[in-house]
Amino acid sequence: MADQKISVLFVCLGNICRSPMAEAVFAHTIKLKSKSHFFRIDSAGTGEWHVGAPPDPRSVKTCKKHNVPVNTFARQITKGDFHEFDYILLKLFGDYDPEGDRYIRDPYYGGIDGFEKNFQQVTRCSEAFLLHLNII
Ligand code: 4NP
Repeated sequence: MADQKISVLFVCLGNICRSPMAEAVFAHTIKLKSKSHFFRIDSAGTGEWHVGAPPDPRSVKTCKKHNVPVNTFARQITKGDFHEFDYILLKLFGDYDPEGDRYIRDPYYGGIDGFEKNFQQVTRCSEAFLLHLNII
């Protein structure tokens, strides 16, 4: 039943670079483990500038390079989200990073290497978050 699912909202500033990537990587991770049915996931931004926009091409390129599909459009977080979601990863997703790198840094004004770093980090965090939830 839908309301028994663990709901997770990934949040960043614009919802075009980091949180769509985190959502895509987490979706891909749970799909590979046949655990998708446990979850409802989404992503949002705290800012409104990019509402309706597809992810930044550098996020898409980095995900594609790793065969992770991305298919989202930006939206802004709402008050309702705070009632709807069990986990809102405004709490730092990086807290789950086994390498202890707590901050998933804003890659927007940098090069593609920042996106690759984000990708590696959200991949580690996805695995560790699943372990934290006891979903292995
Ligand atoms: P995101 O990256 O928060 O990871 O989506 C950013 C996207 C847009 C801007 C900053 C960061 N911006 O300044 O428009």
